[in-house]
Amino acid sequence: MNGLNKFLSQRWVKAPVWLLCLTPLGLLGWNALHDGLGANPIEFITHATGDWTLRFLVITLAVTPLRQLLGLPALIRYRRLLGLFAFFYGVLHFTTYIWLDKFFDLAEMWKDVAIRRYITVGFAAFVLMIPLAVTSTVGWIRRLGGRRWQLLHRAIYVSAICGVVHYWWLVKSDVRQPLLYAFLVGILLLWRAGAWLVDRHSRGNAPGVRREMPTAESA
Ligand code: HEM
Repeated sequence: MNGLNKFLSQRWVKAPVWLLCLTPLGLLGWNALHDGLGANPIEFITHATGDWTLRFLVITLAVTPLRQLLGLPALIRYRRLLGLFAFFYGVLHFTTYIWLDKFFDLAEMWKDVAIRRYITVGFAAFVLMIPLAVTSTVGWIRRLGGRRWQLLHRAIYVSAICGVVHYWWLVKSDVRQPLLYAFLVGILLLWRAGAWLVDRHSRGNAPGVRREMPTAESA
């Protein structure tokens, strides 16, 4: 894995990762231009952007476990990028809803948020992502301090859970897809809890051991 780690540490690798992350949007654009959005284009776009928001949330949460399990510390260089793409697709998803579905009728939107529970929880998932995106910069790590920044950024777990519940509540009968996401988010949460326990135990045994703090690289 040393070679792969070296590869991932190179600056230029971020460019193809960007391209890869933009591919779902590119495919949507291609489908839009080639009559490929089906009978209900708004529904198609809502579903595609919702799917990619949740996928990027899960991928972002998987970065830390994967870098430790696979011995690829360089993966951390991609976490902020992936998290911001989760937010980007979340913005597209929300924009599709408020623009193409509700025609910017805010009263109608609030009614939906208040009445339809899957919209309420989806809205919560989205709102939670906003402070995370805003504070994703190195300047904000400095301003908040590493520990407070980390605490705030744990909200990504709550956002992912709300995203899964949102999906679960909106499907009519076949819950296989939301179940898969629930399983993945559950595993990642358990891993997090386990790492926290191990960390607490080792710090208890060796008071000098410091926690890993976010840096310019990992922001
Ligand atoms: C982090 C935030 C969010 C995530 C992860 C998310 C995820 C998803 C997913 C996975 C789907 C289903 C896609 C499919 O069936 O293939 C979906 C559908 C949908 N979402 Fe979201 N969503 C989020 C926020 C929101 C918000 C803020 C709204 C509106 C206020 C919203 C409105 C909808 C609607 C209207 C649908 C289509 C429901 C239907 O099938 O009739 N979502 N979303």
